[in-house]
Amino acid sequence: MSSEDGADFIVVANRLPVDLERLPDGTTRWKHSPGGLVSALEPFLRRNSGAWVGWPGVADVDVDEFTEDGLRLYPVSLTGDEVRDYYEGFSNATLWPLYHDVVAPPVFDRGWWDSYVKVNHRFAEACARVAAKDATVWIQDYQLQLVPAILRELRPDLRIGFFLHIPFPPTELFMQLPWRTEIVRGLLGADLVGFHRPGGAQNFLWLARRLLGLEPTRGAVGVRTRPGVIQLGDRAVRVGAFPISIDAAGLDALSRKRETVARTNQIRADLGNPKKVILGVDRLDYTKGIDLRLYALQELLSEGRVDPDEVVMVQLATPSRERVEHYQRMRSDIEQVVSRINGEFGRVGRPIVHYLHQSVGRAELSAFFAAADVMLVTPVRDGMNLVCKEYVACRHDLGGALVLSEFAGAAAELTSAFLVNPHDLDGVKNAMHAALAIDPAEGRRRMRALRRQVLTHDVDRWARSFLDALDPEHAH
Ligand code: ADP
Ligand code: F6P
Repeated sequence: MSSEDGADFIVVANRLPVDLERLPDGTTRWKHSPGGLVSALEPFLRRNSGAWVGWPGVADVDVDEFTEDGLRLYPVSLTGDEVRDYYEGFSNATLWPLYHDVVAPPVFDRGWWDSYVKVNHRFAEACARVAAKDATVWIQDYQLQLVPAILRELRPDLRIGFFLHIPFPPTELFMQLPWRTEIVRGLLGADLVGFHRPGGAQNFLWLARRLLGLEPTRGAVGVRTRPGVIQLGDRAVRVGAFPISIDAAGLDALSRKRETVARTNQIRADLGNPKKVILGVDRLDYTKGIDLRLYALQELLSEGRVDPDEVVMVQLATPSRERVEHYQRMRSDIEQVVSRINGEFGRVGRPIVHYLHQSVGRAELSAFFAAADVMLVTPVRDGMNLVCKEYVACRHDLGGALVLSEFAGAAAELTSAFLVNPHDLDGVKNAMHAALAIDPAEGRRRMRALRRQVLTHDVDRWARSFLDALDPEHAH
């Protein structure tokens, strides 16, 4: 999808799908970037030979554009100060907590905002250079909310979409943001603004009325249908809900491979072949409710409802945003609970919780999913959460049970999971207990229903539904 004068289809995201890693000996190598955005978009982009504009993940490096496995990558450089102020500061200590129901207090810092504006200009300029005439540009996520309007100024010929991968907050919370009007204006530069859930779209429509005096349509926004419309002079901005998903068929196939099945058996054997394996897989983020599930396990063990000789938990936690204060505090809290549980209930050679502060590869991850009798996904707020969908995609055996927070966007689709309110510790304990003791026939019934949803609503369907709504005359 590229012409001589530039690319016809471009994704712009804070991160490239690969991160540059500096090794201790001074050399560098590329590794897979963390997070749901890359997991979802990368397979789609590779299948459609798109271009990707993004940051290579380390400060103060200038990397020339390059092609990686058929995908054209255009690196955008950030200085050390910009990483601190735009990325760690405004993106991850202001917007991230604000958009996740202020589960941590957002910091409002004017210097960080200035850096956010400057870096958004840089991304827009990079994209304007790369895009062919009349190209389609798809801007991703909260780090780049000003890019749509800046890019429209620079390149009015482009078709511009924006998708938010995290929740869009209740209007009362969004109104706390000193730069609320600028953000809404920035997003309105797009032709289509997409959210995971209709509620987010509805909140945005309300804000356009309240902050800019515009007259959006008043009807209810549907899932993939009935977008709201905001008329801006001769331009119409559509606002819709497009729940993201995963490469379900790819993961299903991976989990069926002989090597994966062998690795699953090996993992269970390495864990001591316990009767039940519980699994958590997350970026180490305070929104994910990792602490809550550990407290629930601790109480179940103390009360004798879970037998320490029968149950082992594995928590895989990808390192994330390690210089941001809240992340540092949460990491030490979690590591303390893990060691308390192991200190109290473990035996030599038999810890209860295996905690790995590491990222593992796709094949290894699918083997872990297949090894888990109970999968715990307990965020206090999550735009969608892809981990729960990945677990389901890996369970072609119809085994396993999913405990899922009501506050993950995925809960609206995965209604056959054990749905829990993560703030209700007794409720989480009861759901874990029920999932551990599930009758196999009931488990299969639930897993079949979950798989029906996940396998028919994959990432290609998500991307196509968004791009079709962005350009209805050229259905993808
Ligand atoms: P977020 O985008 O907030 O990180 P998601 O659940 O939407 O949350 O996506 C997380 C992605 O990162 C998933 O694709 C998941 O498989 C992957 N992931 C999370 N933790 C790990 C880990 N420890 N090792 C490998 N992949 C991980
Ligand atoms: O959608 C969640 C998200 O924040 C993505 O925007 C991001 O790429 C991913 O999680 C991982 O976070 P980070 O890029 O800050 O490591």
